[in-house]
Amino acid sequence: MLKDKVAVVTGGADGIGRKIALELAGVGAKIAIMDINLDKARQTSEEIIKAGGTAIAVKVDITQREEVEAGFREVLSALGQIDILVNNAGFFRLSNEFKNLQEDEWLSMFNINVHGTFRCCRAVLPHMEERQSGKIINIASIAGVAGIAKMAIYSASKGAVISFSKALAMEAGKHNITVNCISPGQLKSYEEDTERGTYLKRSGDLGAETAHMVRFLASSDGDYITGANYIIDGGRVLGARKA
Ligand SMILES: NC(=O)c1ccc[n+]([C@@H]2O[C@H](COP(=O)([O-])OP(=O)(O)OC[C@H]3O[C@@H](n4cnc5c(N)ncnc54)[C@H](O)[C@@H]3O)[C@@H](O)[C@H]2O)c1
Repeated sequence: MLKDKVAVVTGGADGIGRKIALELAGVGAKIAIMDINLDKARQTSEEIIKAGGTAIAVKVDITQREEVEAGFREVLSALGQIDILVNNAGFFRLSNEFKNLQEDEWLSMFNINVHGTFRCCRAVLPHMEERQSGKIINIASIAGVAGIAKMAIYSASKGAVISFSKALAMEAGKHNITVNCISPGQLKSYEEDTERGTYLKRSGDLGAETAHMVRFLASSDGDYITGANYIIDGGRVLGARKA
């Protein structure tokens, strides 16, 4: 399905990003795992290689522009091209009422979730424009759609990713580059009450559903989809829990 395609997955060493990397590798894509944690990135890339795939691990902190630019150069020299960029690296464990948060906390959250996504898009766009082809998939959150109390800054950061993706989709479409978002809801591993809030009486399966949607958008089945935001949350944002 993605044979001969190259995908960069930021934050691909662990969590949802790891699931995405394994999913895309499973359908033939060559994977560059771009992560601040090189040891874990290597573990994931070795897992892919052992299963018969192709993968490299690249140490990049997406808050550092020069590291991001060098990371994309490294991927291009190792794998020759980039067809798919999944901006997944993000930070969400900042839970407190807004009035209690310090400015440095919200600046650092925006620096990863929002500016990190900007930096990676900036680094890959000239290459995708030159090839007149590319798929950018940004991992947002239902927090960016509905807002979550005690996660005001996180919600704002993911809202920014969603609106950025729509605007970038308008600019990049003429170069045959699609830009889409996926907004997952709560996942099993991170919430104490796994059923609360969804209409399917369970939480998401540790990123598997998100990875499936990335695979769909990255494939030719997603060629005519751009500027969309796919909510994958078991219905959590649908409304009051009365049913
Ligand atoms: N887990 C959830 O419930 C949930 C729900 C909705 C959306 N999301 C979003 O999904 C994405 C992944 O979440 P997760 O739960 O898998 O997170 P995680 O913390 O399990 O994994 C994040 C990965 O990103 C890497 N990373 C962190 N900072 C980085 C940086 N500055 N540069 C490069 N890599 C960095 C980490 O090393 C790690 O491998 C995030 O954008 C998050 O906001 C998560």
